[in-house]
Order: sequence, then structure tokens, then C-alpha cells
Amino acid sequence: MEPPIIRMEGVSKRFPPDNQAFSDVNLEIEKGEFVFLTGPSGSGKSTLLRLMFCAQRPSSGNIWIEGVDLSTLTNSQVPYLRRKIGVIFQDFKLLPNHTVFDNVVLSLEVIGLKREQADRRVKQVLAGVGLGEKTRRYPPQLSGGEQQRVAIARAVVNRPPIILADEPTGNLDRERTDEVMVLMEELNARGATIIFATHNDRLYSNTHRRVIKLSKGKLEF
Ligand SMILES: Nc1ncnc2c1ncn2[C@@H]1O[C@H](COP(=O)(O)OP(=O)(O)OP(=O)(O)O)[C@@H](O)[C@H]1O
Ligand SMILES: [Mg+2]
Repeated sequence: MEPPIIRMEGVSKRFPPDNQAFSDVNLEIEKGEFVFLTGPSGSGKSTLLRLMFCAQRPSSGNIWIEGVDLSTLTNSQVPYLRRKIGVIFQDFKLLPNHTVFDNVVLSLEVIGLKREQADRRVKQVLAGVGLGEKTRRYPPQLSGGEQQRVAIARAVVNRPPIILADEPTGNLDRERTDEVMVLMEELNARGATIIFATHNDRLYSNTHRRVIKLSKGKLEF
């Protein structure tokens, strides 16, 4: 059997001086799983995703991604890890002085596609999130929901094997939310492993997906 694509053992995160986000988190996520991560505001969902992306380091414990112990990665190796992971941040982090198209194409450049292939792929993924008509706009000219969809397009355009989605539908209405869920299901069906953090129980209450919950500093199953 293949090892889990993500594994955490005894992971704790403390913010000095005295804020313990969570402690002793043990978690295994299998390749191809679609897992919902829930829990109240401030319970540590975003922090847990940031640890998987190596944007922060745990205070104690170990994390393995595809069998690689993240504590052994040097700063120069971190970009190689990140190439495997598409992240949709809660606060989007779009580049305001770049067009929608450029925000998305920038995350493709590292994998060295030819210009036409890259253009085609970016247009396809932007059309897929309903932004085919707005590729030449700048993020400040878009609504919050539209910006969120640019962030989704940017995260998935590389077809990464792992997608970390932090409340990716937080600014979307019901119809757009459902479209994003369909997109996530499609990506998962094509093999992506997805960890989807959300407060919105409507998104997982009718699925057969695994739901894990951070509560009172611990991970509940
Ligand atoms: N950089 C930081 N410095 C200090 N404390 C932090 C930092 N980042 C997060 N925290 C604290 O860690 C805890 C977990 O925060 P986190 O953002 O992970 O929660 P969350 O579950 O994502 O919340 P939300 O649902 O509101 O997005 C909170 O108490 C928060 O104040
Ligand atoms: Mg959060």
C-alpha cells in the first residue's frame, strides 16, 4: 500500500508568547482523498494548512508530504514542495498590479510550458470559474467573489496533486459555491488530493467525504 500523501504526527503549533493554536495533531490523508477540515473561527484551520505548505513550521511534531519529512527541507528546497501543492488562501493574495490572466499565468511559468499551451490552459481554467470575459481586468476591479475565483484558478492551473483550499467559497453566493464544489469534485476525480477548510456545514453534510474537526486545540475525527 502507498504511504499516506500527507501525514502528521504529534504536531503542535504555539504562537509566542502564550497562544497554543492546537496540540498533538495526528493525521493521515491518503492519496486521492477529499477531506473537509472544519472547526470554529480561531481553531487553527488556516494554521494547519500553512504547516502543510511549509509557510510556517510546527512548534513540535513532524509532517510528511509524499513521504518527505518537511523538517528536513532547507529553504531552497521548499519551492519544490510547493510546486506539488495548489493553495487557495483565505485572503487570496492576488497581485493587484497584474491582470487576472497574468495572476494565473505566473503560477504556470515554473513548469515551463510553451507560450501557446500556457495561454490556452489559463483561458480554459478562467472560463471554468466563469471569468472568461474578465481576463484583462485587474483584481481591484473585481468583486470579492470574482477575486476568490481568480485565486482558485491560480491554484489549480498547474494541476497540482495536492490542493489546500482555505474557505474558498467564503465570499461566494450559493450558485457560485456550488460551481466551485463541482470544480473541486472534478479535480478530485482526476486524482487530486483535496483538503478543504470551511465553516459551512452545508458543503459536507450531504457528502460521504471524511470530515475532520479542530476543536479546543485538538483534532477530532
Ligand atoms: N501569525 C500569528 N501570530 C499569532 N497568533 C496567530 C497567528 N496566526 C494565527 N494565530 C492564532 O492561532 C489561532 C488559530 O488561527 P487560524 O487563523 O489558524 O484559525 P482558523 O481556524 O483558520 O480561523 P478562521 O475560521 O477565522 O479562519 C488563533 O487563535 C489565532 O489568533
Ligand atoms: Mg482561517
